Amino acid sequence: MSTGNYSFSMTKTSNPLSKPPPNTALGFGKYFTDHIAASDYSDGKWHTHRIVPYSNLSMDPAACVYHYGQALFEGLKAFRQKNDKIVIFRPQFNASRMAHGCQRLSMQAPPEDLFIQTLAELVSVERDWVPTERGSALYIRPTLVGTEGFLGVRPSNEYLFFTLLSPVGSYYSNNHRSVRIWVETEHVRAAPGGLGAVKAAANYASSLYAASEQKKRGYDQVLWLDAVTKDQIEEVGTMNVFFVFKNEIVTPALNGSILPGGVRECVLHLLREWKLPVSERKITMSELKEQYARGEFLEMFGTGTAAVITPVGELQHKDFTYKLNTGGETLSTRLYEEITKIQYGDIPDRHQWLMALDK
Ligand code: COI
Repeated sequence: MSTGNYSFSMTKTSNPLSKPPPNTALGFGKYFTDHIAASDYSDGKWHTHRIVPYSNLSMDPAACVYHYGQALFEGLKAFRQKNDKIVIFRPQFNASRMAHGCQRLSMQAPPEDLFIQTLAELVSVERDWVPTERGSALYIRPTLVGTEGFLGVRPSNEYLFFTLLSPVGSYYSNNHRSVRIWVETEHVRAAPGGLGAVKAAANYASSLYAASEQKKRGYDQVLWLDAVTKDQIEEVGTMNVFFVFKNEIVTPALNGSILPGGVRECVLHLLREWKLPVSERKITMSELKEQYARGEFLEMFGTGTAAVITPVGELQHKDFTYKLNTGGETLSTRLYEEITKIQYGDIPDRHQWLMALDK
């Protein structure tokens, strides 16, 4: 992992915030730390790397992001291990994924070594904000927006890359217990050739309506199907999705409209390491129904940075309810335990997934 050699200026806050006391239910994205990091891109170069107090951003009302939505973000976490060692989980993965997303959105990517150095510098400054409780972490949100003020429709020539930090606990308020999911057959998250495979803010905007309609009806999130056949499964909520059948574990193959998730990649890696039969392939609602009828559809879970591994207890497709296994010795529990043991340093980081910060 290469961090860069960029020079950051530091302006310390004169009004430090009080940190949430230990054992606060942190939830997700409700608290923010004292500082953010930022860099600007203009005249063909990245410059003015800085750590500054958390405050409002000022932008031209004609800034491209406001009108044409050039906005990409990433999400990753820092953990506090024993002896107060702070580690960041797979920053190189997120640096490369942002660079890939920039190609699709015609944006200027921050160099990967700048991306990684930014996170390392900011988390070091804010290391006291990394929570101590098991299940909590410091969520890192690197964000890139087009800032040039103009109204012609073309890519921005100026960008702001900024990163903010949020101490977080469980993403779902029910604390890793299972979620209820509605199979969305009307709205779609992404279409072939669209933005689904990159972490564009627009994908989240397009998901909000269906998700909030179903929340009103008591579902935690929706299962997204493909835009063409409305039968192939793509993602669940803001997560990648896995199905555990009697003889096979399946996740949808990356088809151009599915986000290649970091935790998805780790889960595939662990399942292969454990010599379990895992496939990345097309998976349809029709197949789910057959597997369920045979009694061979055992478990379903989502994977993501925010929600880690989240078991699905109930899946509602039109008027059919699937009840799935979430108790006892499930595969999702085994995966959750393994990934979090690596993150918190209980077992060796045998895959080099962690970047440790200097004390
Ligand atoms: C993630 O879990 O990776 C996310 O980015 C989810 C976030 C949009 C809440």
